[in-house]
Amino acid sequence: MESPQAVLEMKGIRKHFSENLVLKDVDFTLRAGEVHALLGANGAGKSTLMKIACGVLPYDRGQVYVRGKQVQFRSVTEARNAGLAMIHQELSLLKNRCVYENIFMGRELTKPGFPGLLDEKKMIEISRKILGEMGYELDPQRKTADLSVAWQQIVEIAKAVWKKADIIIMDEPTSSLTKQETSQLFQLIGRLKGEGCGIVYISHKIEELFQIADRITVLNQGKVCLEKEMSQVSKEELLYAMTGKHIYETRREKARTGEGILRVEGLGGKGFHNCSLSVRKGEIVSITGIVGAGRSELVSSIFGINKASEGKIFLLGEEVPLRHSPSYSIKKKLGLLPEDRKKQGLIMGMSVERNIVQAALNLLFPRGFISASAVSEQAGKYGRQALYQQEMEKLPEKLSGGNQQKVVLAKWLCTNCQILIFDEPTKGIDAAAREEIYRLMEELARQGKGILMVSSDQREVLQMSDRVYVMKQGTISRELKREEITEEKIISAEF
Ligand SMILES: Nc1ncnc2c1ncn2[C@@H]1O[C@H](COP(=O)(O)OP(=O)(O)OP(=O)(O)O)[C@@H](O)[C@H]1O
Ligand SMILES: [Mg+2]
Repeated sequence: MESPQAVLEMKGIRKHFSENLVLKDVDFTLRAGEVHALLGANGAGKSTLMKIACGVLPYDRGQVYVRGKQVQFRSVTEARNAGLAMIHQELSLLKNRCVYENIFMGRELTKPGFPGLLDEKKMIEISRKILGEMGYELDPQRKTADLSVAWQQIVEIAKAVWKKADIIIMDEPTSSLTKQETSQLFQLIGRLKGEGCGIVYISHKIEELFQIADRITVLNQGKVCLEKEMSQVSKEELLYAMTGKHIYETRREKARTGEGILRVEGLGGKGFHNCSLSVRKGEIVSITGIVGAGRSELVSSIFGINKASEGKIFLLGEEVPLRHSPSYSIKKKLGLLPEDRKKQGLIMGMSVERNIVQAALNLLFPRGFISASAVSEQAGKYGRQALYQQEMEKLPEKLSGGNQQKVVLAKWLCTNCQILIFDEPTKGIDAAAREEIYRLMEELARQGKGILMVSSDQREVLQMSDRVYVMKQGTISRELKREEITEEKIISAEF
């Protein structure tokens, strides 16, 4: 018998992908008016479980109940009609449509009396109202393609709110939001909760779960290994449950920095202006700022994806032309790990191992002869620190979200770049693997490489940076030296 106030109940769910059993008889219950956290390492099965709940994926065995009634959704539309909405980890907005069109997708409003005629004005108006109530100022007529990942996330949430869903699943909603934006989202979640919504909240930021969740379920390789009231668990207990290992946090030692290797003077282009910064050998430098402050735009111009229109860039003491290409940057030993990894980072259909060595082919195989065993060896050297062997043998499209991120990261570690720009390096990466990545970054810095990191994760910035640049409205508004880096200083410079 399912518990009375459960809005969503899953029992004995089993699921496999070819020979890989990814959910092993999982039970999960969501009550009305609760935020239920779902935690687990990359690949543990969190997204798969929730995709099953809302009809995106079929399952082998088990039952799903919504408000006490057994259901078997055959499509997302059926689930949506029953009040379920899922905000996916890999965003599913139509890029060439406007914000309001995405919010109303599949449920467009028509003019009263003219069923064939869309009521654009009303949809724009309602969109603006929903976004406004959520605490965000965003023009509903903007093209989705022009929005940063964080803004796209906000649009996804607006879509669920408008659908009046009362079971809302959020798969890593804050992975690219800053602290301020996250607290706005938390206010919204509080309100939805008050209205009786049940919310499943997936996140790798454990601190966040203590703030927002009422209960937590931890998955370890497809099995439930802990279910408790949030107030009854500690962070250590959670990390141990999800990995079976004791995890210690990295503390950054004092950097031994050398000469400057990247310098940018008065750089300007689309979305940023008059930016000057520098990175020295052995240094980890962060750029923070609220969404839309121009951080990603700035670094992708330094790398050559977008073109800067004014200013100067020096790499290893040599001035580079402003309208240079990414391949020119790589030749000059500058690498970039982009924020939108699906679009810019991975080649689907090509093995994980080959993806890892892809950017370093010329370096690793100067004679052009590429042997499979050498690829395997090189890829393993960097990939295996963060990925299991079974993941290395898959195609990237078959990996969980977080493991895809690790592949792109391993790819850059493999090159002999002296300067690495990491745009949100640990976004979507589980808490245990994140510590691995911090250790790798430390190691790179110790080898004398320079790292420029764009990050919205305040903890990460405080933990890892030798210096911090704060961006505001398209320009660098403040530089903080190591001894000046505090949470208060960062926040006060951001606004
Ligand atoms: N379409 C697919 N085809 C084959 N295997 C898949 C597919 N989607 C997921 N998997 C596998 O299922 C397992 C669980 O993946 P899932 O995406 O549910 O993990 P997750 O817990 O959401 O991880 P993350 O924190 O990285 O998002 C992984 O081993 C993954 O490789
Ligand atoms: Mg996932």
